[in-house]
Amino acid sequence: MRVTMIGAGYVGLVSGACFADFGHTVTCVDTHEGKIAALKRGEIPIFEPGLDDLVASNVKAERLFFTTSLAEGVADAEAVFIAVGTPSRRGDGHADLSYVHQAARDIASAINGYTVIVTKSTVPVGTGDEVERIVRETRPDAEFSVVSNPEFLREGAAIIDFKRPDRIVVGTDEERAKEVMTNLYRPLFLNQSPLLFTSRRTAELIKYAANAFLATKITFINEISDLCEKVGGNVQDVARGIGLDNRIGSKFLHAGPGYGGSCFPKDTLALIKTAQDYDAPIRIVETVVSVNDQRKRAMARKVIAALGGSVRGKTVGVLGLTFKPNTDDMRDAPSIAIITALQDAGAIIRAHDPEGVEQAKLVLGNVDYVDSPYQAADGADALVIVTEWDAFRALDLKRIQSMMAQPVVVDLRNIYRPEEMAALGFKYSSVGRGLADA
Ligand SMILES: NC(=O)c1ccc[n+]([C@@H]2O[C@H](COP(=O)([O-])OP(=O)(O)OC[C@H]3O[C@@H](n4cnc5c(N)ncnc54)[C@H](O)[C@@H]3O)[C@@H](O)[C@H]2O)c1
Repeated sequence: MRVTMIGAGYVGLVSGACFADFGHTVTCVDTHEGKIAALKRGEIPIFEPGLDDLVASNVKAERLFFTTSLAEGVADAEAVFIAVGTPSRRGDGHADLSYVHQAARDIASAINGYTVIVTKSTVPVGTGDEVERIVRETRPDAEFSVVSNPEFLREGAAIIDFKRPDRIVVGTDEERAKEVMTNLYRPLFLNQSPLLFTSRRTAELIKYAANAFLATKITFINEISDLCEKVGGNVQDVARGIGLDNRIGSKFLHAGPGYGGSCFPKDTLALIKTAQDYDAPIRIVETVVSVNDQRKRAMARKVIAALGGSVRGKTVGVLGLTFKPNTDDMRDAPSIAIITALQDAGAIIRAHDPEGVEQAKLVLGNVDYVDSPYQAADGADALVIVTEWDAFRALDLKRIQSMMAQPVVVDLRNIYRPEEMAALGFKYSSVGRGLADA
């Protein structure tokens, strides 16, 4: 099949490369000339494990193409995916749909014959109706269907998530569109990933409900971890104790510095706004957003407390800047709020991240970016683990201990054991692991 992906970002590029790998012919279109020029040179503009090889092999097999010309990319396509960004709109927290609407107008002018227009971007309920209206208005003669097909991949494991999804959600009532979507995803459900057909509005809502639920789960365990610190409990044991119950499940029960990233913060906000507009407020998600917002600066206070109440003039080494490991994505990363709060309190920040430094430089100024965890620790008064990259799980702790001005470690991801750290002579604090190590 001929497929076009509008937007060659984390979702568009991964989905496009995976569809090409299934044997479809895919053109990725992006308005960002630098991105397309890099892709044409064989360079991948983002860090996502395995993506470079997947793109290279499909380009070589002449199944994957890149262009800035939407008209060229869309002509003759059977399915055109909208995978552009839907960030929070400045000022009110609604999803900014300007990129989606622009893409719809551009697609409308370019389609040729019956085309399925698929919204893969995360969009509020009713956006499919609006896309349909825009296309119909621009091209009253066109033959098309507008389908919702939200994406659930996780950065850092995006290829495996796309190729082995827990489910594929397709929102449409039109038989003709269902057939195209079924053919497109056939290689996947042959591998037993269920294809779930719903109405378009329901599909749009499923994506927000899923992200809001996961954000709630994280925030729940974070609050339990605060209680653990007060009463002398261990949040990892609590998480295991509740997670073994199949109705709860063990995933997304890791206490930490609060959720961030390119999806949860903006999607929870957008869901709140939609729900308020429809006079069905979702109070539980409103609370989750507010608790999570406060948590990030609270993590900075934890560092300040570990250094005896003041960080003024002290050097804090930060390990990990991206919102999670195995990505270079800095969007709404907890590190931003934590570092800013530490800088506000007078700390000097030295930071290391295996892949995120280039993106971090765009959002975090006045930071000394260094090339290794050991350089971050050298002469530091405290070392803070913010993102749990594998490279930080087996550090030479004796070496770190000997390099630091003060052996203070604040582990916001609980990757080390309090007893072992104490035995090595660290003043170690972590998240939700009782009074003894608080
Ligand atoms: N990143 C994730 O993990 C993830 C997961 C699931 C869903 N989503 C959703 O997918 C959507 C895309 O997210 P992303 O992280 O890939 O964003 P991104 O910012 O990485 O990529 C979006 C791309 O679209 C391009 N673009 C914007 N307008 C365009 C237009 N009119 N024509 C062509 N290209 C255009 C931009 O230049 C950019 O390269 C969002 O709605 C997001 O919520 C993201």
